[in-house]
Amino acid sequence: MTLRISVIGTGYLGATHAAAMAEFGFEVLGLDIDPDKIATLTAGRVPMYEPGLSELLLKHVAGHEGSTGRLRFTTSVQEAAEFGDVHFVCVNTPQRKGEFAADMSYVDTAIDGLAPYLTRPALVVGKSTVPVGSASRLAERLAALAPVGAGAELAWNPEFLREGFAVQDTLRPDRIVVGAHSERAERLLREVYAEPISAGVPFMVTDFATAELVKAAANSFLATKISFINAMAEVCEAAGADVTQLSTALAYDERIGGKFLNSGLGFGGGCLPKDIRAFMARAGELGADQALTFLREVDSINMRRRSRMVELAREQCGGGFLGRRVAVLGAAFKPNSDDIRDSPALNVAAQIQLQGAQVTVYDPKAVDNARKMFPSLTYAGSALEAAEGAHVVLHLTEWAEFRRLDPAELGAVVAERRLLDGRNVLDAEAWRSAGWTYRALGRPS
Ligand code: UDX
Repeated sequence: MTLRISVIGTGYLGATHAAAMAEFGFEVLGLDIDPDKIATLTAGRVPMYEPGLSELLLKHVAGHEGSTGRLRFTTSVQEAAEFGDVHFVCVNTPQRKGEFAADMSYVDTAIDGLAPYLTRPALVVGKSTVPVGSASRLAERLAALAPVGAGAELAWNPEFLREGFAVQDTLRPDRIVVGAHSERAERLLREVYAEPISAGVPFMVTDFATAELVKAAANSFLATKISFINAMAEVCEAAGADVTQLSTALAYDERIGGKFLNSGLGFGGGCLPKDIRAFMARAGELGADQALTFLREVDSINMRRRSRMVELAREQCGGGFLGRRVAVLGAAFKPNSDDIRDSPALNVAAQIQLQGAQVTVYDPKAVDNARKMFPSLTYAGSALEAAEGAHVVLHLTEWAEFRRLDPAELGAVVAERRLLDGRNVLDAEAWRSAGWTYRALGRPS
């Protein structure tokens, strides 16, 4: 008999995971406490911009013409508990207010809500990013609260998907890491992931703590790599060198590699910033804080890039923002996403606005979300419209459409041809030869 899978929490992670499980051939029930989200997903729509996800949903959500009907959604915990043989926990773990530590309340609530309905053997699989040590605590809690007792087992299976590539990362991940304590748990997860495993995706079984740490370590490494090159950008600025040429040269060394070595405004989003902070907080609790003090520096280097961009913009405005118009290209924390959580672009836009400039923002997908969080910024429907009358144009999120902008066309509408490239990807020569002053972080003026 085919496994039946429930997915608890239908945000980025859960909605994508549920659709992917249906694609693998399982019967899937997605659960969320938010009835609006459930209604949207049931209608086959995706509450966020994620390439390919709505197509995958429509292929499987029950009630749509030509769909496999394998995927349904509900707000009933009891229904999900009774339905699933395997329950994936995909709720979020945001940063706690006023602290570095992760807020575990959604994970705890998910386990506490599900457990009392588990009357037959079931495997609960955590995918949320959690502080190391959470899985063993939750495993005990699950067995204590479930009527089936130890028949309700826990496994930990961290998720590494990137926003903007969520579908492909879920269907064909780089690796599948599983923290499991029994043969039954391992067997069930091998069955769940039979398709990617047969396609050659490495499947690694380990203990709970190691599985949890793989996620924290991976995100810390990525954040460190970005802050490393941004620290080099600071040195390049001081020494009159060019960080883009430096990173190109470094990348030829295969041991270093070019990925995540793009200098600029640094990292943001719902994961890297909060994950490195939660990791530091957890290491502190474990008495291993010294091991991660470097992450504090990684965080500071990253935040300094935002201040530096504001400074450069102020310089370009003649030393002050009052009465100046600033165009900001990009609001999402990265291209191909409408996610604005801890967006470096919006952080810079808001700081400049607070210092007296009139800031107009354009983003291909994230304007609606940005407007909700920063209603006092002005928003435009195109890059050209945002640039009208601007004394300086800031390129802060590297959408492909910004690389296709025509410097002459944009030059015709601005007040002054001044461009700051916060992502080091525009063609400096093309902009300069169209009469623009082109400046970027970590590059000579
Ligand atoms: C990240 C991890 O990549 C993913 O594995 C994990 O599961 C969740 O966190 P995501 O938040 O979607 O994924 O974004 P990612 O593509 O990693 O980018 C993070 C930030 O780093 C973005 O703001 C991006 O602009 C920035 N970045 C990335 C750089 O500044 N330079 C780079 O070279 C790469």
